[in-house]
Amino acid sequence: MTNSSPIANLRKFVSPEIIFGVGARKTVGNYARTFGAQRVLIVSDPGVLAAGWVADVEASLQELDIDYRLYTDVSPNPRSEEVMRGAALYQQEGCNVIVAVGGGSPMDCAKGIGIVSANRGHILSFEGVDQIHAPIPPLIFIPTTAGTSADVSQFAIISDQVSRSKISIISKAVVPDVSLIDPETTITMDPFLTACTGVDALVHAIEAYVSTASGPLTDMHALEAIKLVSANLAELVANPQDLALREAVMLGSMKAGLAFSNAILGAVHAMSHSLGGYLDLPHGLCNAILLEHVIDFNYAAAEEKFKVVADTLGIDTRGMAHNAIKQRLLQSVHGLKTEVGLTQRLKEAGVCSSDIPVLSKQALKDPCILTNPRKSNTRDVEVVYEEAL
Ligand SMILES: [Fe+2]
Repeated sequence: MTNSSPIANLRKFVSPEIIFGVGARKTVGNYARTFGAQRVLIVSDPGVLAAGWVADVEASLQELDIDYRLYTDVSPNPRSEEVMRGAALYQQEGCNVIVAVGGGSPMDCAKGIGIVSANRGHILSFEGVDQIHAPIPPLIFIPTTAGTSADVSQFAIISDQVSRSKISIISKAVVPDVSLIDPETTITMDPFLTACTGVDALVHAIEAYVSTASGPLTDMHALEAIKLVSANLAELVANPQDLALREAVMLGSMKAGLAFSNAILGAVHAMSHSLGGYLDLPHGLCNAILLEHVIDFNYAAAEEKFKVVADTLGIDTRGMAHNAIKQRLLQSVHGLKTEVGLTQRLKEAGVCSSDIPVLSKQALKDPCILTNPRKSNTRDVEVVYEEAL
């Protein structure tokens, strides 16, 4: 309390109602009825539809005679025009509840549809913090990946194809009313997607823990998430059908989501959003590639916090100087990524050195850069991209 104003010390914590456990998805009909659903808009994508998870939602709604419409025109890195088309369908069909089933893309698209239906205007006009003034329709989310945590967070990330950038919408209004977190739905993820989303969850936890907006309300979730994901992810990628491991990583992802939704993120996400918007690259993969490079850049600005991260990853830091801890931490992160098969560099993902100036400019505009523990300028960000190339 010595060097900052009392306001800067205030912390908040928002969370949806959470139902966690195998079979949670089957309660969707009951929740829709509780919200007075006359007609539900189910938002999903073609992959999740093919995996059969939409059919489970339909069955649960049918059982209670709840009418619904289906919208699956959602791509990875969901686009503003997909949100607008979904919102038009929602209105035209007279829907009054939104159910999203899928990974981050359908969930973020569903948030966008909710925003536009209640507030009018174009989705891109709601960019930034607290720009949503009318409450949005009830949102019931069923995540089918263990990583993005869009089902607990107050973030919606939408791609603008015209400017080739991603916009961040941050508002309590986009925290779903209910999140039905059912680890069984993650069983259809292949090992690569399991690895990418799992590392995304680990990045959420680490960035939230070292964020300048972190605090006692979020730290416990962040550290528990680091433990759960780091202890179980490699084994899960090797045994993708193991439901107990699916459950442990899903719980880790949920806790990471609760942490980052409230403590916000950092440079990994700012830089990764820029890569996703400009080059349409997968979010989890971008985060995985950038993680140790950003830790290397940030370490000196949050030494004590990174020491706790290292301890939580199982490194015995007793008697070690910070430089040695940093090296062990970087090795540990790199080791985990190698174990789960994520050793790509940005070049292999299709990034050229000529892309870096634009990527860096966009990353500096992302709200996640504001809570990064080390203040960064364009040149700093360029150097980190270059190192990850
Ligand atoms: Fe993420």
